Amino acid sequence: GAALRRNAAPSRPSHRSHYSTASEPERKVAILGAAGGIGQPLALLMKLNPLVSSLSLYDIANTPGVAADVSHINSRAQVEGYAGEEQLGKALEGSDVVIIPAGVPRKPGMTRDDLFNINAGIVKSLCTAIAKYCPSALVNMISNPVNSTLPIAAEVFKKAGTYDEKKLFGVTTLDVVRAKTFYAGKAEVPVAEVNVPVVGGHAGITILPLFSQATPKSNNLADEEIKALTKRTQDGGTEVVEAKAGKGSATLSMAYAGAIFADACLKGLNGVPDIVECSFVQSSVTELPFFASKVRLGKNGVEEVLGLGPLSDYEQQGLESLKPELKASIEKGIKFANQN
Ligand code: NAD
Ligand code: LMR
Repeated sequence: GAALRRNAAPSRPSHRSHYSTASEPERKVAILGAAGGIGQPLALLMKLNPLVSSLSLYDIANTPGVAADVSHINSRAQVEGYAGEEQLGKALEGSDVVIIPAGVPRKPGMTRDDLFNINAGIVKSLCTAIAKYCPSALVNMISNPVNSTLPIAAEVFKKAGTYDEKKLFGVTTLDVVRAKTFYAGKAEVPVAEVNVPVVGGHAGITILPLFSQATPKSNNLADEEIKALTKRTQDGGTEVVEAKAGKGSATLSMAYAGAIFADACLKGLNGVPDIVECSFVQSSVTELPFFASKVRLGKNGVEEVLGLGPLSDYEQQGLESLKPELKASIEKGIKFANQN
């Protein structure tokens, strides 16, 4: 009735800086796969991020609904939904950060590598469009198997002549989020204060948490407990896949992790100093061409890839045993990109 009409919102605002905040620069973030299990909560979290002025939600279908829904939240970002390949260019144009959670998730009994056959092609075509429409955006790759999809993206960009190793990131933040949570529980320290670097890659034993460097320090963790924490971090994805029993893999904790990492990228772009996150990037930290370690973020993306620091004997062994698998996954991605 009348009351409802009095409270009704004014007609839809124009797209330009309606809720502009003078202090922060305009930043466009695109999410590819925005209608999915990760994409939807990630869209919500990015809508809540005051560093985002424009939020572009792309998927092959269902994005108009997600975009309409999220757009009603009274925060800064102007939201647009794009559905179908013919709208991909518009979705990407002008993006500062592109987050990619497009592709199929695991079911119980599958490895991340079992997703390769479907997701490799999806990632390849999305990256081809990124090279065309927003070649200087920072790319946050979430689609699995990250150990292979990141090298695919690098190859696609190299072929297009747009590759900048400072701008391509495999998102491994969920491994860090898990390591922090599990460590805080065992070490009985406040979870909000915990830091744990996680290096290597993003699958099984290639995920190497460095609990010897965890802070706050805990004196009372036995070697067996460190081993159990390491194993739980490495199998964290599988723990969720099994609990979801066929309904997919981590989506909510992943959206949280993806939002943390994209926020770090935006802060870096905006010139905030000392932004450090772990990420799977082009690297010379080991003999492998891509490796996850701490990375300092800045105005051009990667400012510095930080070294591993001192490792315990157990971590040193873990590092040596992960290399063959990680190397093979990287080479599989490179080969795919150059054959197809
Ligand atoms: P989902 O199936 O719920 O959603 C995927 C979305 O991608 C769907 O909406 C689908 O329509 C969309 N999509 C498919 N092809 C596309 C294309 N060509 N262009 C744009 N969008 C397309 O899956 P999910 O649970 O959101 O997981 C997505 C991916 O993220 C999976 O590969 C999963 O393994 C991976 N993942 C990675 C991490 C990590 O830590 N890096 C964590 C969790 C999940
Ligand atoms: C995760 O770590 O949760 C993701 O990589 C999804 C998966 O398949 O485990």
